[in-house]
Amino acid sequence: MVLEARALSYAYPGGVMALDGLCLTVGRGRRLAVLGPNGAGKSTLLLHLNGTLKPQDGQVLLDGVAAAYSSAGLAGWRRRVGLVLQEPDDQLFAATVAEDVSFGPLNLGLDQAETRIRVAEALAALGIAELAERATHMLSFGQKKRVAIAGALAMRPEVLLLDEPVAGLDHQGAKRLLEALGQLSKAGTTLVFTTHDVDLAWAFADEVALFNGGRVARHGPAAEVLADRAALATSGLEPPLLLELGFRTREEALAGHNRQPHA
Ligand SMILES: Nc1ncnc2c1ncn2[C@@H]1O[C@H](COP(=O)(O)OP(=O)(O)O)[C@@H](O)[C@H]1O
Ligand SMILES: [Mg+2]
Repeated sequence: MVLEARALSYAYPGGVMALDGLCLTVGRGRRLAVLGPNGAGKSTLLLHLNGTLKPQDGQVLLDGVAAAYSSAGLAGWRRRVGLVLQEPDDQLFAATVAEDVSFGPLNLGLDQAETRIRVAEALAALGIAELAERATHMLSFGQKKRVAIAGALAMRPEVLLLDEPVAGLDHQGAKRLLEALGQLSKAGTTLVFTTHDVDLAWAFADEVALFNGGRVARHGPAAEVLADRAALATSGLEPPLLLELGFRTREEALAGHNRQPHA
């Protein structure tokens, strides 16, 4: 277990209870989909998992140890757990791609030579080495998204938190991004991503935590959670299309079987 949220509660100013006693464990090396409808508290959870927000109740544990909110504690935490925001414009700020991706490693105190290695490695992992000298504000949305992920990756985090990683990307862009994330996962990075898309969770996650009203309603292997129609329905979701087709085929087969005596 690399990360754990224990009974987190968080209300935004104005009183919206975004997290309400939420518990979640993240196993090392897993690909965990945090699945739920809009407003379920998914983004708020990610902001707690790297210390950007501090819970009003409950705690976050790193390798079983309560995370510290001191500046040294937060720096160590963010080195190990990277967060990629949903909107790349909220994340990117430097003039060029290489400068932006350099920020993390330089901030870690690495020298220029080591930083250059980290930047090249991160850009290569996302398949965007050729963008290094480009101006960040001139990039397409999909390119910005990759640069934002490369920036998190340059810290060589153990865990990468991604908020709606493929939202806003076209089919090809989403496919390429998922391939890159799949490679990171193979190399051992733990991935936690939020989504409202059951088909994405089915295609890419090995575990699913189903959110409902600021809590985890169900957490388990993707194939089990995504086949649980009743649990999905309480979160306003339906099973993935591929599973639906499987259910239908099965129902039709059973119906066909029942008709056989008349044949
Ligand atoms: N900055 C904010 N100020 C006030 N309420 C917020 C803010 N951000 C989110 N909320 C509210 O908190 C709840 C959870 O939001 P969020 O974590 O963004 O959900 P999700 O990512 O699942 O869509 C929602 O009701 C949302 O309206
Ligand atoms: Mg969100």
